[in-house]
Amino acid sequence: MTTATTTATAGAPTTAPTLATYLDRNVHLLPQTDQLRALHTVVRDRNARREDFVFHAGRIIRLLTEAALDLLPFEPYDVTTPVGSTYRGLRFTRKLCGVPIIRAGESMEAELRAVVPGIRIGKILIQRDKTTKQPHLYYTALPDDIADRHVLLLDPMLATGGTALAAIEVLRELGVPEEHIVFVNFITVPEGITAVCERYPGVRIVTSAIEERLNENAYMVPGIGDFGDRYFGTDR
Ligand code: URA
Repeated sequence: MTTATTTATAGAPTTAPTLATYLDRNVHLLPQTDQLRALHTVVRDRNARREDFVFHAGRIIRLLTEAALDLLPFEPYDVTTPVGSTYRGLRFTRKLCGVPIIRAGESMEAELRAVVPGIRIGKILIQRDKTTKQPHLYYTALPDDIADRHVLLLDPMLATGGTALAAIEVLRELGVPEEHIVFVNFITVPEGITAVCERYPGVRIVTSAIEERLNENAYMVPGIGDFGDRYFGTDR
């Protein structure tokens, strides 16, 4: 584990985790294959047509979804094969819930439903107050037994981390253990990873790219622009 020494108040040195620790412990970055890079090349092109953006983003989201499902617990499940033999198999834990953060997170819902038909889907609506810049929770709709479920929290953008932290807080207050939350994310930056993992060290993040930095308007660089606007066609 990578740590940084910090000043201790009572003499003994303490250590604080660094970004490297979080990358090692909390973050699953998709393998940076040429195929993934080619998909990213389309979605990052400012001149991409909307249908190309949606199609190629969807392919990346499918890869993210599959990787996130890999992090969930499985239970033993035997089946009898056509030749009468036993295959000692596995099946998904039944207790799952996808939770898109409205609006951009809803772009990830269809791929999750395609891979896990019948999955419960909750919703959380958080928006940043234009004056205070603080995230404000407007709406939640979650299954009553959310505390017993493994949650795939869906938001393609993890920038400053404010929205993600507010959404995770909602889940934690309802009793979902940190270790049962997988944050499924399209692109992020070190600031976002650090914000989430410092506060919630048990949460895991699946992402397809870690950007260099945030610019002065809190957009990721080199980035993708406003994901929700580009995906839903509301960019001007
Ligand atoms: N939200 C976006 O849509 N893009 C960014 O780069 C940051 C936040």
